[in-house]
Amino acid sequence: MQEQLKQLQQEALDKIEQAQELKELNDIRVAYLGKKGPITEVLRGMGKLSAEERPVMGALANEVREAIATAITSKQEHLEQIAVEQKLAKETIDVTLPGRPVRVGNHHPLTAVLEEIEDLFLGMGYQIAEGPEVETDYFNFEALNLPKGHPARDMQDSFYITEELLLRTHTSPVQARTMEKHEGKGPVKIICPGKVYRRDNDDATHSHQFTQIEGLVVDENIRMSDLKGTLEVFAKKMFGEEREIRLRPSFFPFTEPSVEVDVSCFSCGGKGCNICKGTGWIEMLGAGMVHPNVLQMAGFDPEKYSGFAFGIGAERIAMLKYGVDDIRHFYTDDVRFLKQFKRA
Ligand code: PHE
Repeated sequence: MQEQLKQLQQEALDKIEQAQELKELNDIRVAYLGKKGPITEVLRGMGKLSAEERPVMGALANEVREAIATAITSKQEHLEQIAVEQKLAKETIDVTLPGRPVRVGNHHPLTAVLEEIEDLFLGMGYQIAEGPEVETDYFNFEALNLPKGHPARDMQDSFYITEELLLRTHTSPVQARTMEKHEGKGPVKIICPGKVYRRDNDDATHSHQFTQIEGLVVDENIRMSDLKGTLEVFAKKMFGEEREIRLRPSFFPFTEPSVEVDVSCFSCGGKGCNICKGTGWIEMLGAGMVHPNVLQMAGFDPEKYSGFAFGIGAERIAMLKYGVDDIRHFYTDDVRFLKQFKRA
């Protein structure tokens, strides 16, 4: 029996020595030290031994067990150590490899211009208003003094959805919506940036969808000089401190009087060049004093209140500011175009 135990020990130690993997080691543990293992088997035969032999054999069996267990533990530690080393070797980072450039996006030029304009007007105490892009005929036209059948509706070819619903052709309906919310009480001081839609054939200067920024101020004693001063600040902010503006008479059904606002050419300073087509002036936006009918329809007393409004074409401003020659560049997502605008 003693021999048998010694032999088992040797056998187990050899196998442990040769084991290459943790799984193998565990199998050895189960095989030799488990309940069904050979050592347990040997101990089961102890009943046949004499009273003197029994403790001696018991002690020996425990020694063998201990020896095997110790060998397994130390081999296990060894194998684990190797596994860690292999993993580290495999996952080593070669810090000498060249890095990959990190690409940082930048604002779309149109977004940049919109934010610049919003900041300017927020700084002058305006609030930002919004309205729906799918608009009713009432707000897009009628509330702006353009009753059904009015010839000036042709100025803005429209995408109709139903007889009474259309894609808004301008941001001016937000004027009427905002005034209604104020229930006849001033002051109203808003800008409204947003998408507008017109049935135009797309070319270098036309797009069926573009962006406007509406401005509206209604209060007591608002005059044309307030409009002019405001737009002068706007022109200088966008195109440089030396710029001047001029107002030319124009027509919009919702303003009276109506004006077209020009800015002195930022390229030649007014002498005349290609950009201003030799005139020294560049057309910038449409504006005017809110028509009394519009005030009245929106619940404001035109005897007490007056106001001014303007509509800025955001793409036009961006094209002038950045020298972009085709409005379609804003929508075709060509990275070669977009990459030229650096983060501020
Ligand atoms: N809504 C006009 C347009 O789209 C612009 C405008 C706005 C004119 C406000 C005057 C006042 O052409």
